Amino acid sequence: MLQTMYARTYQQVMRSAMYALPWRKPMLLTGENSVHKLPRVLTEHGVTHLLIVTDKGMMQSGLLQPLLQQLHDEQIRYTLYTKTEPNPTIAQVEEAYALYNEARCDSLLAFGGGSPIDCAKGVGARVANPTKSIARMKGILKVKKPLPLLITVPTTAGTGSEVTLAAVLSNRETREKYALKDPALIPHIAVLDPLLTKNLPPHLTATTGMDALTHAIESYIGYSNTAETKRCAEEAVKLVFTYLPRAYKNGHDLEARSYMQYASYLAGVAFTRAYVGNVHAISHALSALYNTPHGLANAVLLPHVLTHYGEHVQKRLAQLATLVHIDGHTAAQKAANLIEAIIEMNEAMNIPRQLPNIQQQDIPQMIKRAQREANPLYPVPKIFTHHDFDAIYKAIQLN
Ligand SMILES: NC(=O)c1ccc[n+]([C@@H]2O[C@H](COP(=O)([O-])OP(=O)(O)OC[C@H]3O[C@@H](n4cnc5c(N)ncnc54)[C@H](O)[C@@H]3O)[C@@H](O)[C@H]2O)c1
Ligand SMILES: [Fe+2]
Repeated sequence: MLQTMYARTYQQVMRSAMYALPWRKPMLLTGENSVHKLPRVLTEHGVTHLLIVTDKGMMQSGLLQPLLQQLHDEQIRYTLYTKTEPNPTIAQVEEAYALYNEARCDSLLAFGGGSPIDCAKGVGARVANPTKSIARMKGILKVKKPLPLLITVPTTAGTGSEVTLAAVLSNRETREKYALKDPALIPHIAVLDPLLTKNLPPHLTATTGMDALTHAIESYIGYSNTAETKRCAEEAVKLVFTYLPRAYKNGHDLEARSYMQYASYLAGVAFTRAYVGNVHAISHALSALYNTPHGLANAVLLPHVLTHYGEHVQKRLAQLATLVHIDGHTAAQKAANLIEAIIEMNEAMNIPRQLPNIQQQDIPQMIKRAQREANPLYPVPKIFTHHDFDAIYKAIQLN
């Protein structure tokens, strides 16, 4: 009870403080082949040497090659950092930051999913604060200084990191995963080119898409909405319900791919301001220990957490249900039917209801971390206690 009162007061103060932050959105380049507009934009910005942050999968896919050729033709110098891994680490940020300095870069381009984007944000934070470690920038408003030009080219449709103020990084030694949150981390330019997501395999399409749905729903059911974040979350939910199954079935459906990119962006606009919630707190603690892919963890957790919220979310979930044409006689029924539809969508995309290898002895530590991440910061519909977190970890544990 005391814990809830403290959290709600804290959240109220934060809600007022959020209005004073220097919010901005990236300049968007959208549509098929929009990535090829980048060299001209880079020239206009006077870029002399780019650090391109990407990963092995991207290099193997060949998706980056045409842009590299174009940069070469336009005589824009670049250095490549290709070692980002899913759930990017602080060590990878430091390695890329060293390259940035060695090559005397002046701008950053992230090419890939949320992992390369967050790694590039981490590098940018270090460039802005050469004497501050990533660990010291953990939490809210610790970056403070402007980053060099940061361009993001998302190749998954899920994280929304191309528009958010967050960089989520992991420490493999301490097995922690945490966020840096500062408007300075909002990218300057984002490219939403659906052709880049065309060959994203079905499983990654599904799990990253469910991450976008989680952002939209968690921000919508939270207590820190604005008219804009509500509108964006509603639109994102509608788009995911319509286009994620299509993108999953046929990756080459470019209309579905475009709308999923847009859904992910809109969900990013919603949660960067209105926060995520307990699904993310539980999922970050899980990924920190087991390196579980972020989208998969969220997809599995989402229906469990929504069910556990019970009456605290019925009204909001019923509103979302109406938007996606899900019926029910009462708000409670509509909410339950929406959760059922999420479970069915997961099933249709081969996403399990539980996760293997969760060790009983790790649960207390994960609870502690999830609790620390969510409380008092996240304006969730119900402040979870130790008991609530415990129930969720147990519910997703596949024996
Ligand atoms: N900063 C934020 O606001 C924010 C929000 C949500 C999640 N995140 C973080 O983002 C990370 C997850 O990012 P993600 O889900 O986009 O996945 P990811 O970046 O980790 O990529 C997963 C895999 O997909 C491959 N891949 C990416 N695009 C591809 C494509 N078009 N074709 C084929 N393969 C492709 C990658 O090579 C990689 O192997 C997590 O660390 C998570 O915590 C950040
Ligand atoms: Fe997420």
